[in-house]
Amino acid sequence: MTVEVRPDLGLMQGYHSAQVDVEVRLNTNESPEGPPPEFVAALAEFVTTAEFHRYPDRSATALRAAIAAFHGVRADQVFAANGSNEVLQCLLLAFGGPSRSALVFEPTYALHSHISKITGTKVITATRNDDYYSLDPALVTAAVGAADPTIVFLCSPNNPTGMIESPEVLDAALAASNGLVVVDEAYGQFSAWSAIERVNDDDRVVVVRTFSKTWAMAGMRLGYAIAPVSVIEALDAVALPYHLDIVKQAAGLLALNYRDQMNARVASIVEERGRIVAGLAALPVDLWPSQANFILFRPQTGDSKSIWQKLVDSSVLVRDCSSWPGLDSCLRVTVGTPAENTRFLNALTEALV
Ligand SMILES: Cc1ncc(COP(=O)(O)O)c(C=O)c1O
Repeated sequence: MTVEVRPDLGLMQGYHSAQVDVEVRLNTNESPEGPPPEFVAALAEFVTTAEFHRYPDRSATALRAAIAAFHGVRADQVFAANGSNEVLQCLLLAFGGPSRSALVFEPTYALHSHISKITGTKVITATRNDDYYSLDPALVTAAVGAADPTIVFLCSPNNPTGMIESPEVLDAALAASNGLVVVDEAYGQFSAWSAIERVNDDDRVVVVRTFSKTWAMAGMRLGYAIAPVSVIEALDAVALPYHLDIVKQAAGLLALNYRDQMNARVASIVEERGRIVAGLAALPVDLWPSQANFILFRPQTGDSKSIWQKLVDSSVLVRDCSSWPGLDSCLRVTVGTPAENTRFLNALTEALV
């Protein structure tokens, strides 16, 4: 006997990037290099003395305090979770659900709408401008006003376009809405401004960040929210007890000691991004002006799926975005190491002939 899954989930696909065994993996916007050896040594040292038989600090007090100090906010304005995806899930568990709605500007990070649907939250979709899918305050004001959503999702820099949203766009979303404005800053280190400066207890801005990208810790699964204290209390209410294990809490704390190395990593990624953009500009592809660690592009000729396959055949994996809203024939490449980027450019040049 089988039990039927919830009818609204019945036909829903999971969200998965292909995990293919290749030499050059440029499909999930990870850091091309691991964290500093000193960090790994310090974490190994922690593991040898950790009290594995005890539950972790349920509130991750030290980690929250360190993240708060790093951003110049209060510890009670910080919530940490297993990757920023779990932060998003907790936000939707606490503020979404039946009779609530979330507004997304497509194309954007698919998990905003995906987790909304899983939590029974109605998804309202607005489209961006034609010019590279930018947003502007007038468009945002109109869309938010028409939808009156419980949650507005912004993403800056936006995955998959790589473009940064302006403070005016955030202001427009806030002014037009009565709900939360969630700014996903998974790639925030690439932006000159952060919506964290707009978080305050009397307002409704929530910023979501992650250790998965520029901190080079995707495998550790650690993300956080900076938000008004009332929002943090709601997130704490829906998170599972002890959801952050002791190793993860220690890793987050230790990682923050290596911020100079993280900033250096960002600088070298930006430099390599320039080299990839120059390489792509010489090829028959249209590309988006990225300000993140990935670049969206559309081959001008040929079928993007067969180009993706040819890249895989050359042991280079990029993201096939062609089924995402508005992104037919689009591929997205993550900035890798210099050698990986050269492999990608050479393989793409061959695939396009
Ligand atoms: C915009 C955005 N938000 C959140 C995430 C999820 O990151 P995490 O690994 O912290 O769950 C990603 C990962 O690709 C992303 O692109």
